Amino acid sequence: MKKDLISITDFSKEEYLRIMELAADFEANPNQELLKGKVVASLFFEPSTRTRLSFETAINRLGGRIVGFADPDSSSATKGETLHDTIRMVSNYADLIVMRHPLEGAARYAAEVSSVPIINAGDGANQHPTQTLLDMYSILKTQGTLDNINLFMVGDLKFGRTVHSLLQAMSEFENPIFNFIAPESLQMPRAYKHHLEERGIRYFEHEEFTDIISEADIIYMTRVQKERFSDPMEYEKVKDVYILNKAMLENTKPNVRVLHPLPRVNEIATDVDSSEKAYYFDQALNGMFTREAIISHVMNLK
Ligand code: CP
Repeated sequence: MKKDLISITDFSKEEYLRIMELAADFEANPNQELLKGKVVASLFFEPSTRTRLSFETAINRLGGRIVGFADPDSSSATKGETLHDTIRMVSNYADLIVMRHPLEGAARYAAEVSSVPIINAGDGANQHPTQTLLDMYSILKTQGTLDNINLFMVGDLKFGRTVHSLLQAMSEFENPIFNFIAPESLQMPRAYKHHLEERGIRYFEHEEFTDIISEADIIYMTRVQKERFSDPMEYEKVKDVYILNKAMLENTKPNVRVLHPLPRVNEIATDVDSSEKAYYFDQALNGMFTREAIISHVMNLK
């Protein structure tokens, strides 16, 4: 039976830990010819820099070959071809499909149609499971554990697919605490808070965080995503509501790390980049090793 990665909840805690182990192995030795003779389709119906390039680099480092598109305008989707037909075709050509799509649920639908594994590289505001696995690898590397983490999630918690997936994954570990910092219009959706309540996991909601930032182990900043707003005025009201700067990090734990899935716009001032507490560029590098690990796990290469 084929293994897909559509939602972070498709994998068990044991699988998360296996991927962390594989990511460390690929970090120590990134070039391993495990995909030799295989073709991977990279279908990006929505813009991307990190996810697409780190996947494609990972595939190259594993010795595989890549077909696909970075711009759906260059595909027959512009002629009206359905996602169903596109996936049926491509799954005849390739051994694995990595797909990003603006519609929530598109990756799950593709997995139902495809004869080869599908890895979801982000579907609308729903899930971004490969980002979550690289976020977990970054937390593990910097904190030495995935247990007892006080995780501050800041910004667009409503449309932010990365925080949705990360919340679900981290809730599998011992004693997490979540602090959600968002304007009222961008708060964490009810379903995710319910997920925590069902498990007896503590969470707190705030509109400001300067007076509590000293409690954080991880500060996970997010971009307010202009492309998810139907009303531009609503975006204007909230776009610059949280801007983390270096001075704000003075009263934080020595080992706190600032993560961001990137791209950033204004939410992290550039003076943070020189702080030892800034980790977002290392996090993006961890993405390449983690995506080698995810491909290896889905394709059962090791
Ligand atoms: N973090 C992330 O998904 O970045 P891209 O949109 O550049 O892929």
